Amino acid sequence: MPKISVVGAGNVGASAALYLAEAEMGDVTLVDIMEGVAKGKALDLLQAGPVRGYDTMIEGSGDMRSVTGSDLIIVTAGLPRKPGMSRTDLLKANADIIRGIAKAIKEHAPKAFVITVTNPLDVMTYLLHRITAFPRERVIGMAGVLDSARFRAFLAMEIGVSVEDIQAMVLGGHGDTMVPILSNATVSGVPVQKFVARERLGEIVQRTRDGGAEIVKLLQTGSAFYGPAASAVQMAEAILKDKKRLLPACAYLNGEYGFRDLYLGVPVILGSRGLEKIVELDLTAEEKAALAKSAEDVKKGIADLELEPAAR
Ligand code: NAI
Ligand code: 2OP
Repeated sequence: MPKISVVGAGNVGASAALYLAEAEMGDVTLVDIMEGVAKGKALDLLQAGPVRGYDTMIEGSGDMRSVTGSDLIIVTAGLPRKPGMSRTDLLKANADIIRGIAKAIKEHAPKAFVITVTNPLDVMTYLLHRITAFPRERVIGMAGVLDSARFRAFLAMEIGVSVEDIQAMVLGGHGDTMVPILSNATVSGVPVQKFVARERLGEIVQRTRDGGAEIVKLLQTGSAFYGPAASAVQMAEAILKDKKRLLPACAYLNGEYGFRDLYLGVPVILGSRGLEKIVELDLTAEEKAALAKSAEDVKKGIADLELEPAAR
């Protein structure tokens, strides 16, 4: 059985643990600075097993040493967005949290795959990659699956078809300038433009970009968690089961799409080697320009981290 650790037993972390348990994907360890929360939720999830029909072993801990031996770690620790707060407002506070967690992962789980969720996502993934010095194949951020799921859900509602038949991707950074891609969005291969007028598609693109904020505004006390957790678990499954899924994910770019030394949302293939390939799409000139703008935003966030130059 693989060992999967989920760091941060808050809304996203606990929901991820539930989805992992229900899929019996491995033994799950929940770690949180609030030890009682991690232990309490782990016990509660374990006790749901007999009713929901899963045999997953779930443990809670307040100590990062508990990630020892993990095959895969999902990092959700951090502060969530509050109403009126941008993702980048979170940068400094969450960077301190990620620094500590990254050092602990490097020390106690040097072979693990890491999927980051903490916001601002692209910058935190960059930071975790820099501190662990793990290869880019093993440090991947989750945002594209979620943003694309929102895009797909809105398109399906508009067109009146199953969400299962919508293929659509959101690329770029997980922020206000993310790039929902219309040029290859389809209903089972049929371009969405066949079903929806251009102006209405523009509104759906904007609702997708605002998807996280729409939920923050409604919840008032936190941000989305079911969708985010399901998305992180889909990525974990692709790696642990070597599914070779082609999914949008936050990956370290080394020249792909014309960017270097940057984490950004792009289509990737996820399998047992983690990030197995970055897939370069033929984007329209407008989409390329939007991706460049989004990359600029992520670069600004990385600059705000005030990192020492990387050791060569
Ligand atoms: P939450 O507040 O419910 O849970 C966060 C948990 O992290 C808390 O239980 C807290 O005690 C714990 N924590 C804080 N510092 C820690 C440390 N040093 N070690 C271990 N645990 C620590 O927040 P929620 O809703 O679960 O969100 C978590 C993060 O994920 C936030 O940064 C949020 O913005 C981000 N997020 C990212 C998404 C994405 O698409 N990438 C989507 C949704 C959330
Ligand atoms: C979201 O998109 C808050 O980033 C989080 O829901």
